[in-house]
Amino acid sequence: MKKRVAAFCSHGGSNFASIADAAARGEIPVEVVVMVHNNARAGAKEKAKARGIPTEWVPRKRFATDEEYAAHLFAILERYTVDIVALAGFMQRIPEEVVRRYAGRMTNIHPALLPFFGGKGFYGMRVHTAVFEAGMKVSGPTVHLVDEQYDHGPILLQRAVAIDDCRNPEEIAARVLKEEHRIYPEAVGLLAQGRFQLEGRRAALIPS
Ligand code: GAR
Repeated sequence: MKKRVAAFCSHGGSNFASIADAAARGEIPVEVVVMVHNNARAGAKEKAKARGIPTEWVPRKRFATDEEYAAHLFAILERYTVDIVALAGFMQRIPEEVVRRYAGRMTNIHPALLPFFGGKGFYGMRVHTAVFEAGMKVSGPTVHLVDEQYDHGPILLQRAVAIDDCRNPEEIAARVLKEEHRIYPEAVGLLAQGRFQLEGRRAALIPS
């Protein structure tokens, strides 16, 4: 049985598209059933439309409290009977209530090797600029489970890419993004198959 995935996006949605396309090609046992976004101009909208995936626009400022925001998200997740939530460049904090209900079933991708260059304030190009300024020779994406702290949950997959010849943060971003598009579908596919065993903060991959 295919697991039903909701992707949450704020901008371009290239990671969402990589998961949807891997699913459509039958490479991973999931179906992306809805794309939730908080930005009316998100490029992810066009990608969803092109793939026939329904979208839901949920701007945080429409809700007075976290409780109301969470209730709206729950209603969407129930309407589409979502098994897995994949945050894919979603730049809005998810209410703790939602994180708790989806514990072990909510993933995020971060464009650096966590726990380095992560946490509050580290997102998008800010991450790559920090990596560049630190003179790092490697960087790479991390897919992790979401818990109540930013960029903190168990790491599912992580891959290092050489960046020693990158001349600016933009070149690092492009190189890391290419790898994001490989590991995010892979991680969601493995999670859908129940291939991770949690031991504290470690997610061990169970051999197939
Ligand atoms: C990706 O590089 C993702 O890792 C990053 O935002 C970009 C979204 O691109 N996420 C974070 O920085 C989260 N802390 P996309 O919209 O094309 O998938």
